[in-house]
Amino acid sequence: MSDEPPPTVLILFGATGDLASRKIYPALCRLHEQNLLPTPFTLLGVGRTPMDDAAFRERIRTACSNPPPSDFLARTHFLAANPASPEAYPQLATKLYRLFPKTPIPLRLLFYLSVPPALLVPIVDGLVASNLCRSSPPKGWCRVVVEKPFGSDASSARTLNLRLASAFSEESIFRMDHYLGKETVQNILAARFSNTFFEALWHRTHVRRVEITAAEDEGIGHRAGYYDQAGALRDMVQNHLLQILAFLAMETPSSLQDRAIRRETLKVLESIRPIPRKRIPLDTIRGQYLRATLKGTSLPGYREEIGIPSDSRTETFAALRLFVDIPRWHNVPFCIRTGKRLPTRVTEAVIHFHPTPPLLFRQDNGRPLPANQFILRIQPDEGLLLRFNLKTPGTSFKTQEAALEFHYRSLGSLRLPDAYERLLLDVFHGDGTLFPTAAETEAAWNVIDPILHAWQTDATIPLYGYPAGSWGPEAVETLIGEPGETWRYPCRRLSMDGEFCEL
Ligand code: BG6
Repeated sequence: MSDEPPPTVLILFGATGDLASRKIYPALCRLHEQNLLPTPFTLLGVGRTPMDDAAFRERIRTACSNPPPSDFLARTHFLAANPASPEAYPQLATKLYRLFPKTPIPLRLLFYLSVPPALLVPIVDGLVASNLCRSSPPKGWCRVVVEKPFGSDASSARTLNLRLASAFSEESIFRMDHYLGKETVQNILAARFSNTFFEALWHRTHVRRVEITAAEDEGIGHRAGYYDQAGALRDMVQNHLLQILAFLAMETPSSLQDRAIRRETLKVLESIRPIPRKRIPLDTIRGQYLRATLKGTSLPGYREEIGIPSDSRTETFAALRLFVDIPRWHNVPFCIRTGKRLPTRVTEAVIHFHPTPPLLFRQDNGRPLPANQFILRIQPDEGLLLRFNLKTPGTSFKTQEAALEFHYRSLGSLRLPDAYERLLLDVFHGDGTLFPTAAETEAAWNVIDPILHAWQTDATIPLYGYPAGSWGPEAVETLIGEPGETWRYPCRRLSMDGEFCEL
């Protein structure tokens, strides 16, 4: 008997979809270039569009920036089948037996579900019926990757989790949140827990407010069907922004093992105070972009986008003020916002510290000096920036603001790996650290559900219009609620505000 590992087969449902071409194939190609794919490795794409292997390979070739070598392409295959139909699964089993006639199926099977939500349960049912996973151990394994959206509310997420749990063990289920694959999101943990001067101050006694912004300058593109059902709250907040919040707020994990980290992030998500019904108009702001002209270009309003009903009330902007009810963060607001068609594409977190007492140093109006800020820039111009006050050179004791900054690009040729590369590699290794668990997805929905419900049922909660290319509804300032303070309005380039902004 040879000791060679059984082949790893990635079975990609949604192989002709947009995400596969934009993210999954390029990531696989780059992993192959770096010799990081498992050996032997096979990709079997499944999709409804009739296509032979040659056409499928051409699709992969086009998606990858460097043309993949023929030995890689030779291990890619396509099965035209409708995943919604039970017949697809015997076809899949037959295809696998044909591809691996000598292997009595203890393969390593990785099912990647990059499909619309309605197909998830039929696919899991089909896989259970096919028995492919039953015959995998001892040398093989079965894993499943599920793309977002993971349900559309707490109840549908629970149903989906139960269905998945009936077919796969929790360690074999990988729920994709690609923000967790971003180097700079992971760096939140390294910055916090490997630096005394951050860790010591990371507490309500020093932190006044935490801000998280994920702004996009693009509109909804060709995703009207999905987006109009989802909206900004489901699309970005339930997953990406709450995961960033959890990394910022978590207590020190006992190790960097997946269980230890996920245990702490779950605690945070479960400790987010549900916004009481009567506070929803005060602690949440929603908006929708309107037609506007930016730098001479006319940008359509959301309701004018192709495929969007002219009376749609879906939000393209969402901002929330949340509180995490653990002693460390008692009464510290976490202000989070996201939106489409904002002035620029930028994701960052800002830690606002308390100002020093206005005794020795203060502004001319008697107010405290600008408080220190620590900015973790997630993208673009990835880096860190620390804002502080220093003495303006001269004969008086006047002060001015200055910044210490670090840009990843200063590390020279070091490439920041793409989130999908990192996450796929983790799935191959069975490492779930960067994948939300069932309990986390449900806890995140529990935060979102009451807001969704109020927004859907209470027409008195305003849906503000905001001009495309602006920073969203002006009412968002009310969430900050501190006199003289505003959100940070960041530029594409990581800097103190103002001077380098090229919007
Ligand atoms: C996706 C959302 O999860 O994240 C999109 O569905 C959004 O609407 C995208 O544009 C943003 O990801 P990134 O990596 O470009 O910031």
